[in-house]
Amino acid sequence: VIPAVYGASERPPRGDYDRSGQVKADYTCPQNYAAYTDADHDTYRRLYKRQSALLPGLACDEFIAALPSLGLEERIPRFDDINGRLFKATGWEVVAVPGLIPEVPFFTLLANRKFPVTDWIRTPAEFDYIVEPDIFHDMFGHVPLLFDPVFADHMQAYGAGGLKAHGLGACEQLSRLYWYTIEFGLMRQRGQVRAYGAGILSSSGELAYAVTSGEPQRIALDLLRAMRTRYKIDSYQQTYFVIDSFKQLFDMTAPDFTPLYAQLKTMEELSANAVSPGDVVIHTGN
Ligand code: PHE
Ligand code: FE
Repeated sequence: VIPAVYGASERPPRGDYDRSGQVKADYTCPQNYAAYTDADHDTYRRLYKRQSALLPGLACDEFIAALPSLGLEERIPRFDDINGRLFKATGWEVVAVPGLIPEVPFFTLLANRKFPVTDWIRTPAEFDYIVEPDIFHDMFGHVPLLFDPVFADHMQAYGAGGLKAHGLGACEQLSRLYWYTIEFGLMRQRGQVRAYGAGILSSSGELAYAVTSGEPQRIALDLLRAMRTRYKIDSYQQTYFVIDSFKQLFDMTAPDFTPLYAQLKTMEELSANAVSPGDVVIHTGN
């Protein structure tokens, strides 16, 4: 959730196909499936193959259980095909968007159980590293956990909370929580650390780094702590926050955040590698 207005921006939506007149007021567009080239499908297939092979021992159980629900591994999935299964499982749908969208439409879609998935895929030159979300990050990283009922409810609550945060001028604080949970969250399972964040799960390098490297800090998730902490968008994270279950995350984030936002306004920000007095440290970074 690093929203950007693409309509009038210098950076036009990616992909070679013409979406003119097709982007709706809610920022969604049709998935123009016929426009994907064989090279696009091949990029998806190779990314899927590499990433799925890395998951055992590093990804959380819920993610590994849900991944096959995406269907097709050989080609870019059709959103309609996924929605047939996803809507039945949790009442969620994926919708196509041309790229990053502004925060209010983003939160509105989530609050209505619609997950925006970027329609274009990276070029072969960007195979290992891409600076903005493409269809592989969104589909492989985010969509499997929408099949998990508790995580699915949490995403909707986050969307509703985002609309509230927007009204309170607290989007930056809330988006740090998104960053450190939905994008880069870790979870303890059977005494071991596993990944559930989409940014980790869709990255070939960061998956093993986040879960097994001695370098980064791993700290038990605390809402105020995470919302005070700045983050890196151009390197692996220096701090990861750890939960024990999606139920814990859901329950922890259920109360009204209004007093938390007020409290945060009086607190100093923390750097991405800070150690702070109340931290429940699971691993001290070296
Ligand atoms: N409960 C939060 C609020 O009242 C909203 C929220 C839900 C935030 C889930 C994050 C995750 O603002
Ligand atoms: Fe993402």
